[in-house]
Amino acid sequence: MRLYIDSANLDQIERMNEYYPIAGVTTNPSILVKEKNHYIQALQDIRKIIGEEKELFIQVIADNASEIVKEAEYFQTMIPGKTIIKIPVTEEGIKAIKTLTAKNVPTLATTIYTPFQALIAAKAGAKYVAPYVNRIDDLSGDGIRVVSEIATLFTIHKMSTELLAASFKNVQQVYEACLSGAHTITVAPEIIEKLIDFPATARDVKVFQSQWKETYGNEAGNLLLK
Ligand code: E4P
Repeated sequence: MRLYIDSANLDQIERMNEYYPIAGVTTNPSILVKEKNHYIQALQDIRKIIGEEKELFIQVIADNASEIVKEAEYFQTMIPGKTIIKIPVTEEGIKAIKTLTAKNVPTLATTIYTPFQALIAAKAGAKYVAPYVNRIDDLSGDGIRVVSEIATLFTIHKMSTELLAASFKNVQQVYEACLSGAHTITVAPEIIEKLIDFPATARDVKVFQSQWKETYGNEAGNLLLK
């Protein structure tokens, strides 16, 4: 399972990349427009922080296949390293995924709401598919069930496409997606922090430290505790 940061905020990316086992960064137009910099500058800055080996996902805006392909090639030129092109699963998007796959440009099929969208995108050659868990839940659907059914379809049909679950609003959704067959997940920084946050852990650490200090003072190995 790989963990991606779903954000374009440089401070948050820097912090997450330093502290957590991060495989890369996913962006989308809504995420990029929240930041102050022009999108190319923002994407290049993200690349500088994560390096060229980690994946950076960039979503196209064009809505016809030939323009999507041009936009994808532009991003590939402008942003060095492992850049994955996110393409919505429209008919034009599927055509573009086929073309880009033939040119060895890696793609992620995004805005996925149904298992069949994922299967068709995978057959077209997408490297990843991204079901939108919380947005499906918002429509009175069952985002986790969609993740689970995509995982089953990929197993039955021996697809090598990876299931990258996206659109989370809480830790429980992330947890259930991981249990339901998501190969990888992309999560906003605020929720990544909550993945390990548990009050009893912090309390235990404090108790260990105060017991230690009562006996040994501030000495700990070759350190002096504060
Ligand atoms: C992935 O990058 C998706 O675009 C993103 O997870 C969507 O999240 P949202 O539904 O919170 O906007």
